[in-house]
Amino acid sequence: MRWWAFPFIHLYLSLLSTMGSIMSKPKIAIIGRGHVANAIQQGAERAGYEVRTTGHDAKDVSLAASWGDVLILAVPGPARRATVQELGDVRGKVLVDPTNLLSPDYSSYTGDPSKSGAEELQEWAAGARVVKAFNTVFAVHMSTGKIQGEPISLFVAADDPEAKAQVLRLGKDIGFHAVDAGPLRNARMLEPLGVLNIQLSRGPSHYGPGIGFRLIGAPSK
Ligand SMILES: NC(=O)c1ccc[n+]([C@@H]2O[C@H](COP(=O)([O-])OP(=O)(O)OC[C@H]3O[C@@H](n4cnc5c(N)ncnc54)[C@H](OP(=O)(O)O)[C@@H]3O)[C@@H](O)[C@H]2O)c1
Repeated sequence: MRWWAFPFIHLYLSLLSTMGSIMSKPKIAIIGRGHVANAIQQGAERAGYEVRTTGHDAKDVSLAASWGDVLILAVPGPARRATVQELGDVRGKVLVDPTNLLSPDYSSYTGDPSKSGAEELQEWAAGARVVKAFNTVFAVHMSTGKIQGEPISLFVAADDPEAKAQVLRLGKDIGFHAVDAGPLRNARMLEPLGVLNIQLSRGPSHYGPGIGFRLIGAPSK
């Protein structure tokens, strides 16, 4: 082989490896183009995922949903039901719920303590594999999963083991300390924890948004 062929072979091999890594990762469709959507898009793309985001247009929402393997519902709590209807057929899709159900002044949880918003979503989105995640983290940390270089915990609750594993891996790839938070019903506890995060930041203790939870003693999944 000629000496000048080596750089081309090297380029070819690294191209193959990049394509292989993109192909083995699920495609991420994010519904919404706000703080959470932008941050997760940034983090996931940096980690080598293919990502699409979509705004309000119902046709775009349905196209993004049929394209993506993992759908992230990064919309305000009150918009969830309408957005789920726009998604169309979500059977088999992984549907990630980062939403927090909050009073207008962000001081209290407005969901039903006996049925989380994520379980409600599971009822609306027939056949989808709903995963609660990202709701206990501020958007400013979602692109790196870190605060001052330290990974913070991403709590991931779901009933479907494969769906949960995909979101744990996404979190870990972004840079989080990924925590298996049990079945979807545990969203009943994760949702108020999201509200506590906001209270610690904006309430009387006023720690600001540079805070995050870390579960000590649990290895990242
Ligand atoms: N921000 C945080 O730190 C944080 C942390 C954890 C969890 N969360 C939760 O994550 C969710 C998103 O928060 P965010 O801060 O990203 O909110 P945001 O900045 O207000 O963005 C919400 C996005 O959803 C879009 N949207 C609203 N209704 C929609 C619909 N029917 N179909 C499609 N898109 C729709 C909005 O579009 P328009 O702007 O055009 O209306 C906007 O792009 C909320 O449920 C929030 O509680 C937020």
